[in-house]
Amino acid sequence: MLLEAAAITEAAQQQLVAVAQEARARAYAPYSRFLVGAAVLCADGTVFSGCNVENASSGLTVCAERVAVMSAVAAGRRQFEALAVVTDAEPPASLCGACRQVLHEFAPQATVLLANTSGNVIITSAAELLPRPFGPDGARGD
Ligand code: THU
Repeated sequence: MLLEAAAITEAAQQQLVAVAQEARARAYAPYSRFLVGAAVLCADGTVFSGCNVENASSGLTVCAERVAVMSAVAAGRRQFEALAVVTDAEPPASLCGACRQVLHEFAPQATVLLANTSGNVIITSAAELLPRPFGPDGARGD
């Protein structure tokens, strides 16, 4: 699916949330029963989605946001404009700390849409979610 990359219009936001909601339907969450869908809009307009994938060994669970970001990176994308997350939580759930850190690695300026199945959306950003971050620059050994 292709979306406009230049500006994140309201229509593009709605489309990204819709893709995240579709991905939520594929969540594998038999333990928590908390279904999460995510979608990342790349700078070239492509969109990658993810859902949470739990495991009987609970520490191996992977969040929807990281599945989306890792899928995009594995497909050769490293620049992201926006990330949408959909749950049924009210207010809409935010990203866990691990996902904030992973998003910061590639998209410190990204818009983040926290949405729920009732249609409520909170618009925030990667920068707002992770103040004073540890990032790629600080980790380089040179
Ligand atoms: N979860 C996500 O997918 N994203 C988050 O940002 C927070 C939590 C998932 C992990 C687990 O499958 C379930 O929600 C309950 O923690």
